[in-house]
Order: sequence, then C-alpha cells, then structure tokens
Amino acid sequence: MLKSALVLILAASPALAAGDQILGRETYQGACAACHGAEGKGDGPMVDLISVPVPDLTGIAARNGGEFPWLKVVHIIDGRTGLRGHGGPMPLFGALFAGDTTAADAPDGSPVITSARVLAVTDYLASIQAAE
Ligand code: HEC
Repeated sequence: MLKSALVLILAASPALAAGDQILGRETYQGACAACHGAEGKGDGPMVDLISVPVPDLTGIAARNGGEFPWLKVVHIIDGRTGLRGHGGPMPLFGALFAGDTTAADAPDGSPVITSARVLAVTDYLASIQAAE
C-alpha cells in the first residue's frame, strides 16, 4: 500500500532529482514555513503578525481547477508577481535566491529563467498538493 503510493509519487514527477527534492524541502522549511506552516497549510507561527491571510499552499491546485499552475507559482516565488504578503517585489527572498540563475522548461514547454532554488521549491509545493 505505502509502496504503491510512493511509486505513484515518483512517477508523477519524473524530472525531479533527489537532490532538488531535498533543496526544495529545506528551502521551504527555512524560508516559507514560518508563515505558510511546516505542512504548507497556512498555519505558521508568523500568521498572527501579518495583516494578510496566509494561504494554504497544499490547496493551490484545487484553487486552480485541479491543476498546479507551475509557471505562475515560479513567478510568485521569484517575485515577478507582486504579492502583498511577500512585500511587493519580494525583498524577502531576493538575497536568498539570487546568484543561482538557471533555465528550465515549464511543463507546457515554455522556457523559464529563474533560480534553481525557486524551481526546487516550486516542485516541492507541487509535490504537497492535497488530493481532491
Ligand atoms: C512573511 C510571511 C510569508 C513568508 C515568509 C512566505 N509567504 Fe508566501 N504568502 C504569504 C501571504 C500573506 C500570501 C498571500 C498573498 C497576498 O494576498 O498578498 C502568500 C502567498 C503565497 C503564494 C500564492 C498562493 C496562492 O494560492 O495564490 C505562494 C505560492 C507562496 N506564498 C509561496 C511562498 C513560498 C514558496 C515561500 C518561501 C520561499 C513563501 N511563500 C514565504 C506570506 C508569506
């Protein structure tokens, strides 16, 4: 039972190397969990300190018609989409994520230039989406 679930998870993300999975999880725990919660459910210790509600990141796919909006999430994390909770152009993550620029292909085939950390944390978020 557990084994077949694991095979399913691995089959769903063939491009994800083990090292990137660890980088994504560690980046998430270090930079995001304080607000979004250790499990991504929007219940981190900092939620009481900020005035904007913190979204449940395991529900991103569900809120987007069941499909994880990979490219949109990359842009939210790397700061191209200004979110109030992330301080506009994301000064929060500028230093942490700078300096490891990389190119990748989005699932729809379009090229994306962002940082390896942003890619890793986006893949991590994709992997924690709640089943519908
Ligand atoms: C200071 C608290 C805080 C931290 C730290 C934080 N976030 Fe957020 N995040 C928010 C808030 C608040 C929102 C809601 C956006 C808004 O309305 O401005 C949000 C929204 C998002 C969204 C959009 C969710 C949706 O469904 O639209 C994503 C994706 C996201 N954050 C990812 C991350 C990632 C990845 C990190 C770590 C690199 C991170 N956040 C760190 C507070 C935070």
